[in-house]
Amino acid sequence: MKIDVLTLFPKMFEGFLSESIIKRAIEQKLVKINVHNIRDYTLDPHKKVDDYGFGGGKGMVLMPQPIFDAVNKFKTDDSYVILMTPQGNTYNQKKAYELTTKKHIIIICGHYEGFDERIRTLADEEISIGDYVLTGGEIPSMAIIDSVTRLIDGVIEKESHENDSFNDNLLDYPVYTKPVDFRGMKVPDVLLSGHHENIRKWRYERQLEKTKQRRPDLIEKR
Ligand code: ADE
Repeated sequence: MKIDVLTLFPKMFEGFLSESIIKRAIEQKLVKINVHNIRDYTLDPHKKVDDYGFGGGKGMVLMPQPIFDAVNKFKTDDSYVILMTPQGNTYNQKKAYELTTKKHIIIICGHYEGFDERIRTLADEEISIGDYVLTGGEIPSMAIIDSVTRLIDGVIEKESHENDSFNDNLLDYPVYTKPVDFRGMKVPDVLLSGHHENIRKWRYERQLEKTKQRRPDLIEKR
């Protein structure tokens, strides 16, 4: 999979792309991620990318030209263009799985007060990562890249994400490591029993219990 990110703040991605699982996935060529500075695509002699909104109101609005030209440069028949905005479809694990089927994703990160409405016409989909407003689409785009990349075959062991929270609309079961007794808090006996069927049942029951308690809305979806 290839991902092209269009942003005014490419440096925000440096740490994210150079650590841990994402770094390894890039090194192993399981995903190719390019971050492009929108400013490099402006035709304005002063490298301007935003201006005041018509009709008044505070804040600067991203102009369409640099973003149209950047998208058109990278877009092919295989591209899926996503615009990060709090007004988009709310992101979830199902959408993350859906995006793993795309060959090429282009992500447009808005910033400041907003972007010219005509930029929306470039997008196949607008995505929000939740009902709160960030200063820009950079962190939301990283959330998407991270959650999609870990699902790509070979990035992490399949078993690690088969039991993820939200698969089958259930939260994940609790896990424990050493020591067996930590300051009086003990690992449940069943996990030490070696009885795989009992462990599987116990985990499923805990998933149901936790989901009913914390996310009854997910139970309804099942
Ligand atoms: N840009 C600012 N806030 C956002 C959000 N919640 N989701 C996606 N993009 C955003």
